[in-house]
Parts: sequence; structure tokens; C-alpha cells
Amino acid sequence: MNFKDKVVLVTGAGRGIGRAIALAFAGEGARVAINDINPDTCEATAKEIVASGGEAAAWHADVANKLAVQTMLIDIEERWGRIDILINNAGVEPHKSILKLDEWDWSRTIDVNLKGAFICSQSVGRMMVDKGGGVIVNIASIAGRAAGLRDRSAYVASKTGLIGFTKECAREFAAHHIRVNAVCPGVIITEMTAQLRQDEAQLKKWLEDIPLGRLGEPEDVTGVVLFLCSDAARYVTGQAINVDGGKVMI
Ligand SMILES: NC(=O)c1ccc[n+]([C@@H]2O[C@H](COP(=O)([O-])OP(=O)(O)OC[C@H]3O[C@@H](n4cnc5c(N)ncnc54)[C@H](O)[C@@H]3O)[C@@H](O)[C@H]2O)c1
Repeated sequence: MNFKDKVVLVTGAGRGIGRAIALAFAGEGARVAINDINPDTCEATAKEIVASGGEAAAWHADVANKLAVQTMLIDIEERWGRIDILINNAGVEPHKSILKLDEWDWSRTIDVNLKGAFICSQSVGRMMVDKGGGVIVNIASIAGRAAGLRDRSAYVASKTGLIGFTKECAREFAAHHIRVNAVCPGVIITEMTAQLRQDEAQLKKWLEDIPLGRLGEPEDVTGVVLFLCSDAARYVTGQAINVDGGKVMI
């Protein structure tokens, strides 16, 4: 999988899965635009890539803010001329029961996880149409395939919506040579799952349900993302692929 000189934008790449995806693309020769709302972690990922001989730069836009995203995209286009691959990875996950979830938490989750993917896909999609094609991968979740995550209603709704949005994008963008797929991770060891992993009873239950018998590492997700962005997947679009050790088999 050679991505030499491809320009890749990864949102939420300051840490966790997004950071691992950014490092993986850089390792395959891509120029990586690192986005994260946290300027420190965003810069840190870009510096790590540059220090190991790769090409990267950081932009700390909020993906839910259209103006901030568009400003970032103008800057990336001025620097590298185009975006070949977009990875919509930025996400948030409030843990509250429906009875306690306030409207702000609901709206922010939908805004970042779903509207953010729409804003980036629309704006980057327009650039890709002008340049003759591209690839988009949305990092959804098995929470969007088979609900049942306690206290995660806004998150489950956003990821279910993201899988639906992926299919609509794939259908509409196909005529412009843009493929769009979703990757649905299971429980991956990142800050996002720290609370779940501290709950021994819940962790035991999860592990019993994972045929491969372990939680995932961010690097377990990167191979599938790179495959979907490569020519090896040139006939694959509109799919949602689970990367969860076999927990969900649909
Ligand atoms: N970790 C898991 O088990 C798991 C499972 C399924 C899906 N996912 C999804 O994978 C993606 C990455 O998750 P992670 O585990 O690495 O989470 P994480 O919390 O470690 O990282 C998410 C990153 O997104 C950034 N971010 C949040 N809001 C943003 C915004 N508005 N604009 C730009 N950046 C923003 C954060 O600053 C953070 O660096 C998320 O979409 C998440 O829902 C994670």
C-alpha cells in the first residue's frame, strides 16, 4: 500500500485511533494534514511524523464549525494543492443515561460525530470533485451496527447516522470517482474507553463476547483504513466494516 505523495486529512488525529491512522499513512509516504480541536496534541502528532522523516502539518479546527473547517481546507490546498483522502475520525462519547443527558451533550455529540463528518465530506468532496476523485473513510463504531451500549444514546444515534450518511455519500459521490466507506471499531484501547476498561465487571463481559479474546489496539484499525483507501479496494464503496475481534457479526 503505497500512498507516496497522496494528501490525507485525518480529523481528531491528536491521539488514539486518529493518531495511529495518521502515523500509518505517513509511514506509507503520504503527506498528512493532522486535525484536532486540541492544538497541543495536534502539533505533537505532526511533529512526531516530521521527526521520523515524514511530511505533516497541524490544523486545530473544530470539525463541527464549518467556517473553521473551510479555513483549514483553504490552507491545506495552498500548501499541498489538493486532498486525496479524508478520514472522518474526530469523535466524542458522553456517558449519561437518557434520563440525565442534557440537550447540550446530545447536540455536541451529534454535531461532532455526525455534522462534523457532513461538513468535512461536503467541503472536501467539492475539492475532490474538482480534482477528479478521492476516497473518504468514516470512523463509525459497532455501536452504530448493534446498539446495546449502556448510557451512550447520543453516541449510538450519531454512529448509526454516520453509517447511513456513508451509504448516501457513496451513492452520490460514485459518479465523481469518490469511494466512501465506514470502519466500525469495537472496544479499542484509547482514552475514550478508559472508563469502560476500568470497570472490571463490564470489561470481563466484553471480553467474553469477543471471539479473538482481546480488546483492540489503535493499530488494529489502521490496516483496514489503509486497505479501504488503496487501489486494492477500488471496487468497494458504501460498506461498513467491523474491526472488533468478531464481537458483532453483521
Ligand atoms: N476507542 C474505541 O473503542 C472506539 C470504538 C469505536 C469507534 N471509535 C471512534 O473512533 C474515533 C476515534 O476514537 P478514539 O478512541 O481515538 O478517541 P479519543 O477520544 O482518544 O480521540 C478523539 C480525538 O478527537 C478529537 N476531537 C474531539 N472533538 C473534536 C472536534 N470537534 N474537532 C476536531 N477534533 C476533535 C479529540 O481532541 C481527540 O484527540 C471516534 O470517532 C470514536 O467514536 C472509537
